[in-house]
Amino acid sequence: MSDRERITPAWCRQAKTRSERLAWLTAYDYPTARLLDEGGVPVLLVGDSLGMVVLGFPDTTQVTMEHMSHHVAAVAQAQPRALVVADLPYRSYETPEQAVANARRLIEAGADAVKLEGGQLRVPQVEAIRAEGIEVVGHLGMLPQSVKEEGGYRIKGKTENESAQLRVDASALEAAGVFAIVLELVVPETARAISQSLRIPTIGIGSGGRTCDGDVLVIHDLVGAFPWFTPKFVEPRGDVAAVIREAVEGYRRDGA
Ligand code: KIV
Repeated sequence: MSDRERITPAWCRQAKTRSERLAWLTAYDYPTARLLDEGGVPVLLVGDSLGMVVLGFPDTTQVTMEHMSHHVAAVAQAQPRALVVADLPYRSYETPEQAVANARRLIEAGADAVKLEGGQLRVPQVEAIRAEGIEVVGHLGMLPQSVKEEGGYRIKGKTENESAQLRVDASALEAAGVFAIVLELVVPETARAISQSLRIPTIGIGSGGRTCDGDVLVIHDLVGAFPWFTPKFVEPRGDVAAVIREAVEGYRRDGA
């Protein structure tokens, strides 16, 4: 593949056969998308985590299609080589028809693929979106959009039943046509077992080191741009908050 050829879902699937690790990151705006693309990140996820790290909401359940379309358009404006994946937000895919209509809106805003949360129960939605020729990423394990029903963020796959259900869900999503599955806060043994059983890549977040075919992180967590909360499993590789604070302090001190 030449340097400027766009990354595709097929490229992501082939990366697994080449044993090439996939390092995905979230992006919500033009400059971040450009910087990450220039850094060679193959997939930019416009995650509904933007509800917390960009919009200041307590969780993802207040994120709307309007928010998502706005941020997808900003990321697409960077014309990245990377594949742009957009989250279908809370309650935007209750039926297959609604899922298709909203997936189309995100594609029209500039996304290359959409992501939705859930397993077997979401197969009709995945199949309907795939029937429109739109690529889909699945999301299993801890599902942030279910935080209210679940009463918090819990590690998944701790019991044999939970682990077995996750494996069933992962196979069902693969059969329905997703090209990758995010595994969030899944116990490492289960994440590894799922990864080994699928032909499509798994992308881990908080599911142990190297148990999946790749990883995804919220960019703010990676670079220390949201200092009020950092998930336990993240080791920040920068301190953007300190850079901003220092620059502002110097600007004020010097009376510029
Ligand atoms: O919304 C998001 O950023 C996500 C990742 C954390 C996987 O879904």
